[in-house]
Amino acid sequence: MHAAVLLALLAGTCLGHTTSVTIPSNLTTRQLVRDGYGYSVEPVWLSYFTNTSLMSTLLGHVADVTGKAPPIRIGGTTSDETRLYPVGSLAGNASSNGTGSQFNITAAWYASWADYFPAGTDVIYTLNFAANESNWANAKAEASEAWTALHDKLVLFELGNEVDHFISESWRAPGWGVAEYIAQFDNLSASIQRADWYVEAGPQAPKFQAAVFADPPWVPDQQTEQDDLDIVNLTRGGLVDGAHAVVETYSVHLYPQSTCDTERWLRMRLDLLSNHTVLWLNVSQYVPQVAAADQANTTLVFGETNSVSCSGRSGISDTFGAALWSVDYVLLAASIGLPKVYFHLGAQSQYSAFTPEPYELDNETLASGIRANFYSHYFIAQVVEGLGDGETYQIAALPGANASDLSGYSIYKGADLAKVVLLDMGVWNGTEGLANPSTLSSTDGTVFSNGTRPSYNMSLTTSWTEGAQVQVVRLQGPGTNAKSLVNVSGVSFDTTTGAKLGKLASELVEVGSGGVVYFGLEQAEARLGREAKEEEEEEEEEEEAAGR
Ligand SMILES: *[C@@H]1O[C@H](CO)[C@@H](O)[C@H](O)[C@H]1NC(C)=O
Ligand SMILES: *[C@@H]1O[C@H](CO)[C@@H](O)[C@H](O)[C@H]1NC(C)=O
Ligand SMILES: *[C@@H]1O[C@H](CO)[C@@H](O)[C@H](O)[C@H]1NC(C)=O
Ligand SMILES: *[C@@H]1O[C@H](CO)[C@@H](O)[C@H](O)[C@H]1NC(C)=O
Ligand SMILES: *[C@@H]1O[C@H](CO)[C@@H](O)[C@H](O)[C@H]1NC(C)=O
Ligand SMILES: *[C@@H]1O[C@H](CO)[C@@H](O)[C@H](O)[C@H]1NC(C)=O
Ligand SMILES: *[C@@H]1O[C@H](CO)[C@@H](O)[C@H](O)[C@H]1NC(C)=O
Ligand SMILES: *[C@@H]1O[C@H](CO)[C@@H](O)[C@H](O)[C@H]1NC(C)=O
Ligand SMILES: *[C@@H]1O[C@H](CO)[C@@H](O)[C@H](O)[C@H]1NC(C)=O
Ligand SMILES: *[C@@H]1O[C@H](CO)[C@@H](O)[C@H](O)[C@H]1NC(C)=O
Ligand SMILES: *[C@@H]1O[C@H](CO)[C@@H](O)[C@H](O)[C@H]1NC(C)=O
Ligand SMILES: *[C@@H]1O[C@H](CO)[C@@H](O)[C@H](O)[C@H]1NC(C)=O
Repeated sequence: MHAAVLLALLAGTCLGHTTSVTIPSNLTTRQLVRDGYGYSVEPVWLSYFTNTSLMSTLLGHVADVTGKAPPIRIGGTTSDETRLYPVGSLAGNASSNGTGSQFNITAAWYASWADYFPAGTDVIYTLNFAANESNWANAKAEASEAWTALHDKLVLFELGNEVDHFISESWRAPGWGVAEYIAQFDNLSASIQRADWYVEAGPQAPKFQAAVFADPPWVPDQQTEQDDLDIVNLTRGGLVDGAHAVVETYSVHLYPQSTCDTERWLRMRLDLLSNHTVLWLNVSQYVPQVAAADQANTTLVFGETNSVSCSGRSGISDTFGAALWSVDYVLLAASIGLPKVYFHLGAQSQYSAFTPEPYELDNETLASGIRANFYSHYFIAQVVEGLGDGETYQIAALPGANASDLSGYSIYKGADLAKVVLLDMGVWNGTEGLANPSTLSSTDGTVFSNGTRPSYNMSLTTSWTEGAQVQVVRLQGPGTNAKSLVNVSGVSFDTTTGAKLGKLASELVEVGSGGVVYFGLEQAEARLGREAKEEEEEEEEEEEAAGR
């Protein structure tokens, strides 16, 4: 038997979309990799995460399913505020000491988290590119110490974070742009590559992730400064792989909503986040940027992102609606040619999928724990499950499942349709699972949908053989507004320890004549179906027989 994955998300109060989707045979596909869902961690907050086992436990559950640990970028605003000092020179012999605008570290800081992440984790580290005095002596020392602690876990360096904000940060003079950036990138990357440690590292030496731009190309009121920094201009200017450094990837950042200013504050809404059309409007602006990266034979990634910039917004970022958004986002990005998406984390940020320690916010004490959005990661793990080392799936967005409240993807292994993901993005505000002690209670849902949650049968026309069994995996929760009671086909995680609870419920449907598959969907629910594997079924039966 072959594997098929069906995924469906919660649908809206009035069912506006189709209930019949056909998978065309001529779709253009892009790579879907097994480690496409990663995290970006703000450097000043990293120790808070690595101080408890919650994050490594959760990442380990994902790696158990995908076979590859999620990639971690250590970078953010405080990257360009990081200063490396000799061991022993910080107050109290600390390995780091940070505030909102300064982050002082010693080499011991790298060593303190070097072994934290699950085996096989690829780490990207962002060097301080702002501090350009002494020919970037600080950045070069950071590069050397990071390598000493991490060795081949360190796969990429970024030179600076959001360099298209450097003028507005007063880190570069007005007029700084593509030409100056390229000259400085070449200068620093060349000196890193000449360092003894880099030469000795040979082929294992870290490569570079260039660009790291923040401003979205098409939304002027989200552009912080006027400059010519985008991937099209960058590649045209000659910053391409091999020209000087090994440029493995380019990175852009995206935040669809923001608490940073009044204009965008007024556009912050859960039902606009969990809306496939809005997501498409945000992501499609990168199509020309992908084309430029393609032409340079280099991959573009969403190197830092989340729902709402400036730390997120409780009631939006920490809901089941955000989990549906994340699933749709990772798959849509892959389908247009951005194979990796790194969700940003701070230890006291409302958009963090999990939070390692209790903290105070708005007169409330938030517990450590897991927010609803983490389940998007475990669901995506099920989507990309089934790949060996060096293998990838191919993915296409389905033209027949493309509405504000419906999204869908077909996923191929070689020429064969392997899985289908369907997301019902309609808003359903339920009355259960409204609270989560790791989120603000003041943002628990107060607006409820009337009547009963709509459900319907979806028919999907596939190339699968009549009689084949299809496994259905669901990302499900009580409503778009839910902050708890979310699970992936019955699997949930202990909110304190991150321990996995339950096992994936087996739900099989049979392919009918003409390759048609019928399955039930509910509003605001995600489902993933894959063709059942005989061995797995047998194992499950054995486990049941043994009373486990
Ligand atoms: C696939 O075929 C359909 C129907 O013939 C056509 O409208 C569509 O443009 C084709 N798409 C691609 C990507 O070739
Ligand atoms: C890490 O844990 C130790 C021991 O509980 C505590 O003293 C320290 O403040 C914690 N550090 C951070 C960054 O949370
Ligand atoms: C951080 O540095 C400041 C200034 O040197 C010092 O007052 C403070 O105690 C230090 N904090 C820690 C946690 O070491
Ligand atoms: C300071 O920290 C370093 C590295 O963590 C450690 O090796 C050294 O013993 C410490 N020194 C003192 C005086 O505690
Ligand atoms: C970082 O180091 C600088 C230079 O020694 C010092 O002025 C500053 O107070 C330090 N900041 C923190 C947060 O430790
Ligand atoms: C560092 O940036 C400043 C401000 O833009 C600029 O004047 C100076 O030339 C730069 N230094 C180097 C070494 O590029
Ligand atoms: C690319 O550069 C041109 C000038 O060469 C400029 O007009 C354009 O705005 C730049 N694009 C972006 C997105 O900055
Ligand atoms: C990209 O690869 C193609 C085919 O190998 C090659 O012809 C082209 O020169 C490469 N482009 C760049 C910018 O390296
Ligand atoms: C927190 O409590 C203080 C004192 O009662 C009050 O002034 C403030 O408005 C409260 N803040 C929030 C966000 O509720
Ligand atoms: C989703 O967003 C689109 C585009 O902004 C809008 O037209 C549509 O009304 C939204 N749907 C809902 C249910 O809000
Ligand atoms: C659902 O609840 C969110 C806030 O929790 C609200 O913004 C949205 O308007 C509600 N939508 C419906 C259809 O009830
Ligand atoms: C549910 O019905 C009540 C009473 O008619 C109405 O006030 C409320 O706006 C409705 N809720 C939604 C989400 O439509």
